[in-house]
Amino acid sequence: MKDIDVMEPQIDWDNLTFSHTPTRSMYRATCDEGGEWQEGSIIPFGNIELSPVAGVLNYGQGVFEGMKAFRTAKDRTILFRPEMNAKRLQSSAKRLCIPPIPEEMFLEAVEQIVKDNADYIPPLDKGSLYIRPVIWGTGPVLGVKPSRSYTFIVYVSPVGHYFQGEIPCLHIKVTNFYHRVAHKGTGAAKAIGNYAASLYPLKLAKEHGFNEVMYLNAQNENLVDELGAANVFTLKGDTLLTPGLSGSILPGVTRDSTIQIAREILGLDVKETDVTVDDFLTADEVFCAGTAVVICPIGRITTDDDSVELCTEMGPMTANFRKILKDIQLERREDVFDWLRPLDLY
Ligand SMILES: Cc1ncc(COP(=O)(O)O)c(C=O)c1O
Repeated sequence: MKDIDVMEPQIDWDNLTFSHTPTRSMYRATCDEGGEWQEGSIIPFGNIELSPVAGVLNYGQGVFEGMKAFRTAKDRTILFRPEMNAKRLQSSAKRLCIPPIPEEMFLEAVEQIVKDNADYIPPLDKGSLYIRPVIWGTGPVLGVKPSRSYTFIVYVSPVGHYFQGEIPCLHIKVTNFYHRVAHKGTGAAKAIGNYAASLYPLKLAKEHGFNEVMYLNAQNENLVDELGAANVFTLKGDTLLTPGLSGSILPGVTRDSTIQIAREILGLDVKETDVTVDDFLTADEVFCAGTAVVICPIGRITTDDDSVELCTEMGPMTANFRKILKDIQLERREDVFDWLRPLDLY
């Protein structure tokens, strides 16, 4: 019998979906009273033990990240802009009173766990290795206050397309009933509670055949914020509009990359500004952008009063954005922005 450690993972690379596949290991580090993160280590992937009184379980004191490693056309493995995830995790942590992880420690943890699970990275063009760093308040707290100890875990999973059907033209429901986050709330942080609150609106939308929910701004309901798991863009002529970082949307890494591609490669006029529902309904092309969804066309938008069909197949500019981003990530195109961090796996 083969040793368990050298056994090849049994993964059907041609049929990956965006779901969790357990891998060999995960990274864990802890931070006790005093706020100093201790050196972490790689441990077998598996269940963890928590006190029922843990801050994360009772008060949702947790933040996370989502990023990807790719096998590229140059037969290398790369991380895409991991420094941005490190910085965003720090600012999310600050908002939730969690001791921030030093950037170097974060990058080291991500590199270590990808290397240890290198055989779970899908082959070129078959998908990617999704990386999920999380920090939880794991110390016991009964009154409402920050936990006194924390756990940082990074786990990974090979993944394919986020939406069923490769790259569908999404049908999106604009919700007037639910906000994703409150004005001056935790919208700019990747806080676990933001996602808990989005589950019910998403469930309702899916029951009615929609792919995703478009959230309006809690302070001004004429304005669009974002989708439940991606930022949004509209294109009209040579102008690309996207909601500005006013505090209620997540500052997406893909959003930032899309803006740079638009300005530097496609020569578009980009406005990070207030964007109305009407801007979306009357656009030439509408798409969403995120690590999980990549860049995906929005084909139909339904409000309470209206349902507007924008496309039945991906528009030419959306296709351009998607191709340029993917070609950079997979080293089929020069990394002019210096976004790739290659990993030395050998
Ligand atoms: C609410 C929300 N907005 C936007 C994004 C896109 O961010 P990024 O491009 O960093 O993945 C995400 C994450 O995927 C998200 O959860």
